[in-house]
Amino acid sequence: MADLTSKSLILIAISFFINSSSAATVTPQSSIEFIRTSCSTTTYPRLCYTSLSIHSRTIHTSPKLIANAALNVTLSSAKSTSTMMSKLSQSHGLKPKEVSAMKDCVEELSDAVYELRESIDEMDHVKRSDFEVMISDVRTWVSAAMTDESTCSDGFAGNAMNGNLKRAVRGRIMNIAQLTSNALALVNNYALLDG
Ligand SMILES: *[C@@H]1O[C@H](CO)[C@@H](O)[C@H](O)[C@H]1NC(C)=O
Repeated sequence: MADLTSKSLILIAISFFINSSSAATVTPQSSIEFIRTSCSTTTYPRLCYTSLSIHSRTIHTSPKLIANAALNVTLSSAKSTSTMMSKLSQSHGLKPKEVSAMKDCVEELSDAVYELRESIDEMDHVKRSDFEVMISDVRTWVSAAMTDESTCSDGFAGNAMNGNLKRAVRGRIMNIAQLTSNALALVNNYALLDG
């Protein structure tokens, strides 16, 4: 009886070991570690890590998925900022110059959103043979988004702008620009590993 119990305990232990070792290919820890390591190659590693570690379940340890997730995060940040700016541009008490800079920004951000969408699309539909073309297109779209973001920020550089408004806008845009830069670095990583 005692012998039987210890045998079944061993069997349970073995099956547990087999199950856990097959599931261990991507543990939450290894994904988190992968995200940390990948982010360390970007220009803004802390922002990279905080924005992506919450998506570890979808990223696993895939260079493609982390690049994709970084583009997703950048896209949603650009979208929400665009919405915020569009509302802000209708508020009372803004000088005409501020209104016009806000409207320009909304337009530039909507271009950036379009460009980020295109790059996500491009990554989704890649065929093996088109890898180089895809990476090059993604780099082009992401760079275009960065240009649009910096044009928006430049519109708020002058002293004619309200200080709080200027800081708020430039802060948000800087955040998107850093997310975009990180996404580009992760796309480049992916290209190096899989290209
Ligand atoms: C990116 O966003 C799309 C659309 O919301 C989603 O289907 C996909 O799983 C996301 N990819 C990653 C890696 O998070």
